[in-house]
This record gives sequence, C-alpha cells and structure tokens, in this order.
Amino acid sequence: PAMADTCLAPTDQETTLNPRRLTRQDLRSWRWFGPGDTRAFSHRSRLQQVGVRREEVMDRPIVAIINTWSDISTCHAHLRERAANVRRGILAAGGFPLEIPAMSLGEVMVKPTTMFYRNFLAMECEELLRSHPVDAAVLMGGCDKTTPGLLMGAISMDIPAIYFPAGPQLNGHFMGQKVGVGTHTRKFYDELRSGKITERDWIALAAAMCRSHGTCNTMGTASTMTAIAEVLGFCLPGASSIPADDSAHPRMAVEVGERIVGMIWEDLRPSRLLTEASFANAAATYLALGGSTNCAVHLIAMARRAGVALTLDDLDRRARDLRVLVNLMPSGDYLMEDFHRAGGLPALLDRIRDRLALDALTVTGRSLGENIAGAAVAEGCEDIIRPAQRPISEHGALAVLRGNLAPDGAVIKPAAADPRLLRHTGPAVVFEDMPDMMRRIDDPALPVDERSVLVLKNAGPLGGPGFPEWGNLPIPKKLRARGLRDMVRISDARMSGTSYGTCVLHVA
Ligand code: FES
Repeated sequence: PAMADTCLAPTDQETTLNPRRLTRQDLRSWRWFGPGDTRAFSHRSRLQQVGVRREEVMDRPIVAIINTWSDISTCHAHLRERAANVRRGILAAGGFPLEIPAMSLGEVMVKPTTMFYRNFLAMECEELLRSHPVDAAVLMGGCDKTTPGLLMGAISMDIPAIYFPAGPQLNGHFMGQKVGVGTHTRKFYDELRSGKITERDWIALAAAMCRSHGTCNTMGTASTMTAIAEVLGFCLPGASSIPADDSAHPRMAVEVGERIVGMIWEDLRPSRLLTEASFANAAATYLALGGSTNCAVHLIAMARRAGVALTLDDLDRRARDLRVLVNLMPSGDYLMEDFHRAGGLPALLDRIRDRLALDALTVTGRSLGENIAGAAVAEGCEDIIRPAQRPISEHGALAVLRGNLAPDGAVIKPAAADPRLLRHTGPAVVFEDMPDMMRRIDDPALPVDERSVLVLKNAGPLGGPGFPEWGNLPIPKKLRARGLRDMVRISDARMSGTSYGTCVLHVA
C-alpha cells in the first residue's frame, strides 16, 4: 500500500479524546489579544499593520510554525514551501498560522559540530513558544539534532505540538550500485586513495549521492530520530519515512496543519503523550531499526526532559534480546525510499508489536495500537523489514561497554561492525587529539598493523569541543592499500549514524 494513504489524520469525531474541551478564552494567546486594555489593543493593532483582520486573531487559535529552514541547511531547503502547505491546513481547520524561524542545524555545514548547539535550539524553541502569543506548535525539522532539539523545547514548554519531519532524500545510485548519503563517502574515498577509482569518479559521486531535497537516506541519525518522534506519538502515522520529494510529503504537511488545530481543543500536550512506556516503545523501535548510536544520547536527554529516568543501562538491557530487523544502510543493504515502500514505521511497529505498549497516546488522539491497525510489510518487501526470526545480524544495534578505559561506559553498534573484531586483542596506537591523528595517520612510519587498535583522545564534549562525530577514525593508508576495511577504533567522540565500522564511542 502507498504510505501516503496510511498517513491520515483523524477527524474530530474519530479521535478517542473529547473534542472541543477548551474555548477560545481558555487559550494562552487570548491573554495577548482578548482583553480590553491598551496592551491587547497594541497587539491587535500590530497584526492589523501587516494585513491581519481583527477577527482572525480574536476568533481563531494561534499556531506557531517553528521552521528550521535556511539556505545553508540543505536538508531543510524545501521547508519554506512545506510551511505554506502547513498554513493551508491550519487555516482550513479554523486556526491562524504564524511562521517563526528557528536556528537551523545543518549537520554537514555547522562547525565544530551541531551537537554543540542542540540544547541551544531546545532553549530557542522553548522560549519562542513561551514569549509569543501561540497556543500550539508545528515543529519543522529533520536533520540530526533538529529533531531532539525541537522536541526537547516543546516538551519543556508543554503546549500541543506536532512534529513535521523533513523527509529523507531519494535513493542515490553510482557505478551500478545504490549509494547511501554518508555511508559511501568513506568507502569511495578509501577507493580513491588506494587508486581504485579516479578523481573524475569522485567528482561524479558527489552529484549522484545527493539527488533530492531531504535528510540523509540511510538509517543514520536523522532517520532514527524522526522515527523516534513518530513512535513517541509526535507525528502522523507513517509520516517519518515519506521521501521529501514524494507528492505525499506536501499532502502530509496539510494534514499536520489541520490536525494541530484539533489538538488545541483537545488540550493534547506532550506531557499526555510521554510516559515511561512511550520511551520504552522508542527504545525498542531504535533497536529494531538498527538506528544510530547518537540516539542513545538524544533519547536519554529527551526522556529526562519529560521526567522519565531512562539510562544507558536500560538501553543495553533491551538491546540484549532485540535484533535489528530493518535492512538499511549503514548496517544493511537498502535506503529510506525502500523502507517507505515496504510500509515504513507502522509496518515495523506491527512486526514488534509484542514489545510495545500499544495504548500509548499519540497526536492523532488515538493510541499507537489504533494508528498501526492494518499496517503490514508490503508484498515483496520482506527483505527490507525482516521478520523476528530472520534478523539482519546476530548482533544488536547497541552494546554498552565498560572497562578500565571507560569506567562510566562507552557504546558500540555491533550490527555495523566486523563480527570478527568483536573479540579482539592488539596493541594500542594512541593519538592525543584530532590534529595529532591527522598529522600521523597516513605516515608510513606509523607503527600500525592489522591487529592494532586506534585510540583517539580529547574528542568528547570538552575536547572537541562539543562531542563531534570523529569516532569513525580513518584506516591508515598503508593498511588500506593492503585491502583492510575495518579495525578496532576507540574514542570519546560520537560517530555519524551513516558510518559503519568497529568503533567504540562515547568513552566516559
Ligand atoms: Fe542532514 Fe544527514 S546531513 S540529515
């Protein structure tokens, strides 16, 4: 089935909540516009200055469209157009839209790392909502940190909020194979450095890899976190995997706009969606997706915003008996467009329904179980979303490690590692920091061989600064030339969710 048809917001009559519990006078924006004093007069007058009719703000609830569009945030380049669709939905449902820009954290361009700014975005989102006359929010994001940042702000503010995912890019193809954004960069770079492809190929790859609007098309951090937003109940069902340039995407935008107005009258706030059980649902989904290790960082932060004490050990415990079912790069073979065709998140949730609290409430006003009723893996797509008996790896999406190097823990993604390296002994080659590593990694005199373990220090929250994605240390040139593609690497850094390799990360 086309996912577009399953991504439907319910009508007022279909929600399990009591519609229209609140009145216009109950809403926070009424404090700005309703009273007969001079301040409210000024507020109304200022909007009339830009052509808004008095009745529009007096009679209608007001919805902020928090938009992380920017020219330099390429994953979000289409969000201005989509905001117009969201507006249409809000107006049609009787609300009044105000588009408010927020900082845009484009993963690739922002230095030293977007992680440096995640909480900055959370604070910005929260304060934009707090300081303005708005009754609800549509949060437009998708590139890695924007999802947790926007949601954390909305969780703290606790007004009705719905998440609008930017959508993944379409599949890329190069030299007869599917290429995943990010995942194949390192692979082909290694081929270039060892002379297996030409400079011309390398230039052509850049254009072939990113061929549409949207977020990285692998199960990297963006796809993981938008799926988490959906399973936590913040998205319309099936919304998180709709490709950015699929015609279902702008239609979903209109539905998001319509639905947020219903959520205002139902007083459907984040605090009603988020419970210990909904975060347990998110953890199970992350593990079955084979999601990015970054999810461990963001999910714990989001849970704590919501007052749920999720820990790294909770994730580790769950990871021990849940295998990766989604066959997407970097651990598997397919891309997000394929995942969407296979049924998207609702189909996966149906596969793991015995692991989920299906009564968790969502933005539809219905439970998670009601949202996924009838969902199934599409015919011919059994290899993309596998059954529990046929996981893509015998290893899990996450393991928490402890030892003398990491008394407070470290993580690894076993499903994306070379299984032969999961038990390993070898001499350490230690780099003091990133400049030291860049200086010496390709030095022919570096005392390194296949058994060596590369260790990078000072690349964590303080050292980076800001916890950069440097954990996928490059293989030394002389080993690459001998065909080596993976080795054990240890650091206090994070790793891009699009990368693969035996990388021990987040050493604390
Ligand atoms: Fe934006 Fe990957 S760079 S999602």
